[in-house]
Amino acid sequence: MTHSPDYALLGRQLDALLDTRDWLTNSAQTCAFLMQEVPGLNWAGFYLQREPEVLSLGPFQGKPACHPIPFAKGVCGAAARRRQTQRIEDVHAIDDHIACDAASRSELVVPVIVNDRLWGVLDLDSPEHGRFTPTDQAGIESLVRVFIARTDLD
Ligand code: SME
Repeated sequence: MTHSPDYALLGRQLDALLDTRDWLTNSAQTCAFLMQEVPGLNWAGFYLQREPEVLSLGPFQGKPACHPIPFAKGVCGAAARRRQTQRIEDVHAIDDHIACDAASRSELVVPVIVNDRLWGVLDLDSPEHGRFTPTDQAGIESLVRVFIARTDLD
């Protein structure tokens, strides 16, 4: 099984990497950084809320992905609608999971909330069953907080 990286170290590295306040540059850097540093991922990227109740594909690393995603659908939609992280051990067990890549098996989606407004979600996929542990969830949520703190998002 894949081991969790040192998220405290990754937080310091991400904080240093994000040296602009620009959302496009910082979100592109963040998903490239996660893809490099978190073992066992096949996709890492942002979906943005640019119109009500719909997520639009933003910067990502991995195969071309699904767009758009309504709030009513999929794991990303659930994270946006409920404003809660979704940690899915086996995506095949989720009825309305949206399969962008048939290889994906587990998924972690963290909402990005700024001043009580949903800016978007960060979506991570893995071909491994149960790749994301509670430790990974807490670690990735802490990295999202670094992204929010280093970026102008409103
Ligand atoms: N699996 C997601 C869709 C996005 S892709 O994984 C990149 C979902 O069910 O919302």
